[in-house]
Amino acid sequence: MKLVICTIGTIGTILMAFAGACGDDTPTLSIEELQDPETCKTCHPTHYQEWAASMHAYASDDPIFVAMNNRGQADTNNALGPFCVSCHAPMAVALGTTNGLDFDPAALPKAQRGITCYFCHNVTGVGEPHNNSLTLAMDTTMRGGITNPVGNAAHKSAYLPSMDGNNVRNDSSMCGSCHDIVTPGGVHLERTFADWKTTIFAQPDPVRHLNCASACHMGGSDNVVADDPTANVPFRANGLHEHTFAAIDQAMTPWPDMALNAQRIQRDLDPAVTIVGIRSAGGAQHGGICVLPDGTITVRLDTIGTGHSFPSGASHDRRTWLEIVAYDASNAVVYSSGTVPDGVDPEVFDPNIVGFWDRTYQDAAKTQPAHFFWDVGAVDSILLKPPITTDPNDPAYDHSSTATLRPSAGVINQIDRIEARLRVRPFPFAMLDALIASGHLDAKFRAMVPTLDIAGTKRTWTRATQGALDHCNPF
Ligand code: HEC
Ligand code: HEC
Ligand code: HEC
Ligand code: HEC
Repeated sequence: MKLVICTIGTIGTILMAFAGACGDDTPTLSIEELQDPETCKTCHPTHYQEWAASMHAYASDDPIFVAMNNRGQADTNNALGPFCVSCHAPMAVALGTTNGLDFDPAALPKAQRGITCYFCHNVTGVGEPHNNSLTLAMDTTMRGGITNPVGNAAHKSAYLPSMDGNNVRNDSSMCGSCHDIVTPGGVHLERTFADWKTTIFAQPDPVRHLNCASACHMGGSDNVVADDPTANVPFRANGLHEHTFAAIDQAMTPWPDMALNAQRIQRDLDPAVTIVGIRSAGGAQHGGICVLPDGTITVRLDTIGTGHSFPSGASHDRRTWLEIVAYDASNAVVYSSGTVPDGVDPEVFDPNIVGFWDRTYQDAAKTQPAHFFWDVGAVDSILLKPPITTDPNDPAYDHSSTATLRPSAGVINQIDRIEARLRVRPFPFAMLDALIASGHLDAKFRAMVPTLDIAGTKRTWTRATQGALDHCNPF
C-alpha cells in the first residue's frame, strides 16, 4: 500500500494510508459550506479570482447557453431535459434543483451555477468518456494534485492522479468526460477528449505526455497554494495552477475580471496555430506562403501547440478562416480572400472561403444546415489537425493543412506583397439569428461577437524576399 505524508498544523508529521485522506480526524466545514465557492475565497484567493473570471463559472449564466437550452426544450417537447445542464450546471443537477426545463440561472443559488470548485475537486469516478458521467463522493475531502497536502481546518485533502497535471498516468478523463459530447441523436459532435487521445501527448511517456491539466490549460507557478495562517503551508515549486481555463469564449454580460480572461485568451491563442514551411534537408524552412508560376497562392497552416484539433470543442459553432490581402508595388489591393466584415458569417461572405470548423447538417444528404445539437444528423469536419506521430517516415507525420487560392488570370504577376492572418469567432450569426427570431435571445448580443486574430499566423510574403526557386517565403 502506498503511503502519503501529511503534516497537520504544527502537530508534526504522520503517515496515512493512500486510500484515506489527510486530516481524517480533524473536523471540517459542512458539505454544504464546501459546495459554495465563496468558502474557498479566504484561503485560496488566486484560485477563486481566476475561476470566478472563467467560462466554468459562467457556464450556466451564459445568455447564449440559456437561450439555446430553452430553445432546445421548445424544439424537442422537453425531450432534451437535463442534457445541457448536466454539464453547464452540474451541481444543480447533482442536488436536484434543476431538470433543465424553463432554465433560469437566477432561480438557482449562486453556489450551484456553473462548474464549481466542489464539483471538480470532489470527483472520484469516471464512467463514459463523454456527456459528463463523473461521480462525486459528496464528502468533505477536496481532491487535487498535491501528494502531501498539509491539514487544514476547512476540509480534508487527498491526492488523485487524475487531477495531477504532472502525472503521466493522468488520462485527462476528468476534464474529458465533459469536453466530449455525443448528442441525444447519437452524433459524436464535440470531440476534444477523443481527439487528444489520438495525439502524441496522450502517450504515458514523460518526454511528450501533456494532459489537459498540464501546462497547456493549467500552467503552474512556484508559490504557496493556500493563504492559511492556521496551517503550516509550505512554498511549493510548480504548486499553484492557473484556474482561468481560457480558450475562445468570453462573457457577454458584465462578469468579474473580463480583462484578465481576455488577456489569457489572447496569450493562449497567439501560439496555437502558425503559418509555417517545410523544413528542408539543409535545415531552413520554406513554403509558408508561396506565389506560384501556375497562378496559385498556397498557405501552409499548422497547429503548433494544440493537443487536439483547432478549433476544438464547439467546433460546429466556431468560425476560423484565413484572410489574405495581396498588394501590387504601388500598395493597391489586387487580390483578397477572407476579408469578412463584422456582423457577416464567413461562409455567407464567400462560400469557398478557406475556413476551419465542423459543417453540420440535419440530413445525411447534407443539404439542410443544422444550427443546434438536437438537429445535427451529419458532420463534415474541416479542422486543423494535431500531431499524432513522432515517426518522420509515417505519412501522418505532416499534420499541416495547405490552402490553395486561385486569383484570376494575370493577377499573380502583379503581386508584390501578401499579408495573411487567421481569424476566429466563437459563434456564427446564423445560429444567433435563429435564437433571436424565436424570441429566446436578446438581439443586442449580435453586436458583441468578437473577432480574434492569431498572432502566430500574421505573416508577410514579399516578392523581394521570396525563394528564387520555390517562390515561397521561409517562416
Ligand atoms: C458533455 C458536456 C456538455 C453538454 C451535454 C453540453 N455542453 Fe455546452 N459546452 C460544453 C463544453 C465543454 C463547452 C466548451 C466547448 C469548447 O471547448 O469549445 C461548451 C460550450 C457551450 C456553449 C458556448 C460555445 C458555443 O457556441 O457552443 C454553448 C452556448 C453551449 N455549450 C450550449 C449548450 C447547450 C444548449 C447544450 C444542450 C443542447 C449543451 N451545451 C450541452 C459541455 C457540454
Ligand atoms: C481555512 C483555509 C482553507 C479553506 C477555507 C479551504 N482550503 Fe483548501 N487547502 C487549505 C490548505 C492549508 C491546503 C494545503 C496546502 C498545501 O499543502 O500546500 C489546502 C489544499 C487544498 C487542495 C489540494 C488537495 C490536494 O491534495 O491536492 C484543494 C484541491 C483544495 N484545498 C480545495 C479547496 C476548495 C475547493 C475549497 C472551498 C470549498 C477550499 N479548499 C477551502 C486551506 C483551505
Ligand atoms: C474544471 C475543474 C476545476 C475547477 C472548477 C476548479 N479546480 Fe482547482 N484544480 C483543478 C485541477 C485539475 C487541479 C490540479 C492541477 C495539477 O495539480 O496539475 C486543481 C488544483 C487546485 C488546488 C491545489 C493547488 C494547485 O493550484 O494545484 C487548489 C487549492 C484548488 N484547485 C482550488 C480550487 C478552488 C478554490 C476552485 C474554485 C474557486 C477550484 N479549484 C476550481 C480543477 C479544478
Ligand atoms: C462538469 C463539466 C466540465 C468539466 C469536468 C470540465 N469542464 Fe471545461 N468547460 C465546461 C463547460 C460547460 C464549458 C463552457 C462554458 C461556456 O462557454 O459557457 C467549459 C469551458 C472550458 C474551457 C474554455 C473553452 C472555450 O472554447 O472557450 C476550457 C479551456 C476548459 N473548459 C478546460 C477544462 C479543463 C482543463 C478541465 C479539467 C481540469 C475541464 N475543463 C473540466 C465543462 C466542464
